[in-house]
Amino acid sequence: MSRLVVVSNRIAPVGEGGPPQGGLAVGVLEALREQGGVWLGWSGKIVETVPDKPRFRTFGKITVVELDLTQLEYDTYYLGYANGTLWPAFHYRLDLMEFSRPNLEGYQAVNRRFARALDGFLQPGDRVWVHDYHLIPLATELRALDISLRLGFFLHTPFPAAQVLLGVPWHRDLVEHLATYDVVGFQTERDVAGFADYLTVEKLGTIDENGRGEAFGRTFLASAFPISIETAGLVKQASDMEGSPQVKRLKASMRGRKLMIGVDRLDYSKGLVRRIKAVERLFEAHPQFRGMVSFMQIAPPTRGELHQYRDIRHELEQHSGRINGAYADYDWMPIRYISRSYSRRTLAGFYRASAIGLVTPLIDGMNLVAKEYVACQDPEDPGVLVLSCFAGAAQELEGALIVNPYDFESVGDTLAGALQMTLGERRERHKILMDRLKRWDVTAWRRAFEAALADG
Ligand code: ADP
Ligand code: F6P
Repeated sequence: MSRLVVVSNRIAPVGEGGPPQGGLAVGVLEALREQGGVWLGWSGKIVETVPDKPRFRTFGKITVVELDLTQLEYDTYYLGYANGTLWPAFHYRLDLMEFSRPNLEGYQAVNRRFARALDGFLQPGDRVWVHDYHLIPLATELRALDISLRLGFFLHTPFPAAQVLLGVPWHRDLVEHLATYDVVGFQTERDVAGFADYLTVEKLGTIDENGRGEAFGRTFLASAFPISIETAGLVKQASDMEGSPQVKRLKASMRGRKLMIGVDRLDYSKGLVRRIKAVERLFEAHPQFRGMVSFMQIAPPTRGELHQYRDIRHELEQHSGRINGAYADYDWMPIRYISRSYSRRTLAGFYRASAIGLVTPLIDGMNLVAKEYVACQDPEDPGVLVLSCFAGAAQELEGALIVNPYDFESVGDTLAGALQMTLGERRERHKILMDRLKRWDVTAWRRAFEAALADG
């Protein structure tokens, strides 16, 4: 029987029920839950010696195949090349990018090990769907093992403009590896254009208006498949959570005041410091909101071993503390900064209880939080989404208030406008947003990609 075989570095805690953080784990889990299949990835464990066999575990329709990493692999492949080189570069932060040859070698070696693990159980007819920047060379490694199955790749992050990619050591090889897949999927047309731009600038190939690509003597499809959410499920979950103890406690703590919410991994791409400054601007320039509204930022730490991530928490705490110090009163705090995770159900309830969803990344492949916030609103009394123009989601979510996150004063003023928006306008905007999210949910995303992959 033909199976969908998903491969990614991070796999969601499928059987354990913990909250999967990060768009990849959330999106893939929802896609696999519906249709079943195999999911191979890193177990999250670090071991002393390279284990020779992956572990297989089955949860309902999903079989999870887990590989452990050694400390050296974790340091070079995951922290080193994937998150120390590719992540900053793909998020336009060449200033934060670091590179070393041992890291690149570790990256290549782990991709080879993932390919060998797959080779052990792939069957004729399987469709292999590889996810994200950790595993770009996997197709090349699989082809070297004589695997002739259809291979698809989906990049969850932005694909940078050619001028930026040119700064990444090994860029030509990366693009050649991408061109080895049969289907190369991106979040938005802007990302497809970045890929096409590189091929043109470097005179390596072309992509036509139908996404048919030719480069390095190969042909492939390059197209946008914006990832989405399980819209219907979230709508129900958010409504079910309305009377939950967590939401009741949150509302009681607000004592009738309005809440603005932000939910992100603590990543420099998310624009958190500027977001806090936008909130400061709201209270500074629009004093009528002092004592009337609070901002709650949920931001659990991520990739803490990398020095690029170490200062963010400190910086955020400093700014939140300063603003709270300047504006708080004995019975009101302007900012609540929380650095832990919550279950997806609890988050759904928190989104619904919030009058504003504040999603202001400096750049983001998609940003599922923006879509989740919209789906969780009460259609009769919906909140307003304030969304960065640099999130992939801004290409789709026309009913949002689109802002430039670098101009935090304007973002603060937009917040003031959003807090005063009439019920009629809020409903109208929410309807536009929901029409899109009902039509294009995670199932539509998966089906579109699978259809492209099946198309010989
Ligand atoms: P990224 O993939 O860069 O982390 P996204 O916004 O696309 O950004 O995806 C983040 C996902 O992780 C969302 O589904 C969100 O609900 C989830 N998430 C983020 N922070 C938390 C948290 N503190 N607790 C639970 N889930 C979280
Ligand atoms: O969705 C973007 C993403 O980078 C995923 O690739 C990744 O799994 C997730 O965010 C969380 O990051 P990490 O896997 O490094 O914890």
